[in-house]
Amino acid sequence: MFRPPSDSWLLVDVMRARGLARGARVLDVFTGSGVLAVAAGREGARSVTAVDVSRRAALCARVNGRLNGTRVRALRGDLFEPVAGERFDLVTANPPYVPSLGDELPDAGAERAWEGGPDGRVLVDRFSARVRDHLAPGGTVLMVVSSLTGEDETLAALRDGGLAPEVAARHRGPLGPIVSARAEALERRGLLAPGQREEEMLVIVAQSGDTA
Ligand SMILES: C[S@@+](CC[C@H](N)C(=O)[O-])C[C@H]1O[C@@H](n2cnc3c(N)ncnc32)[C@H](O)[C@@H]1O
Repeated sequence: MFRPPSDSWLLVDVMRARGLARGARVLDVFTGSGVLAVAAGREGARSVTAVDVSRRAALCARVNGRLNGTRVRALRGDLFEPVAGERFDLVTANPPYVPSLGDELPDAGAERAWEGGPDGRVLVDRFSARVRDHLAPGGTVLMVVSSLTGEDETLAALRDGGLAPEVAARHRGPLGPIVSARAEALERRGLLAPGQREEEMLVIVAQSGDTA
């Protein structure tokens, strides 16, 4: 199987350890290569839907599903737009969360995979505010973000979205190459402490309080 980035692996470990995908209708938003969608299928999901704003990523997720023996319904669009009115037992997300140097999110190109806006939170917050509308009763959200994006802020955004979140796993490591390259700019903006060259990857699990 293809090797996904470490933040996605951390999320897959939690999904497996908690048996969250087994028998579940799974939605993977921000699917990219489709690694989370494929992993959910291999863990016994009842159905797997994957969404990405990039046409190429949606195609990639569909093909990776096929190559790995999993049917992935891959849709192109912004966040939950392609699944309007649908609900899922498990929603997974590895959103773009790197704090950007500029104010605007890119509207095309590879940068869309990582640029999260000035504080890295634009897509994390939009996702957190709307994900509950797509959860079935008792459903679960699994999201991976960096500590640079704000642990407390992310938990608060999910709480404001009507969910009960907690950190399920964390992993400290050196800054990735994209953040390293802009570390001094992020220091000047107070998003990195002076000399800080480490970040934590956080996997957040959030439950819907709704019951059937
Ligand atoms: C961090 S990458 C996902 C990585 C993926 N989990 C993997 O391991 O391959 C984020 C993805 O979000 C997609 N994306 C960015 N903005 C989006 C939006 N508004 N709606 C849906 N997908 C979006 C990007 O195209 C990119 O594929």
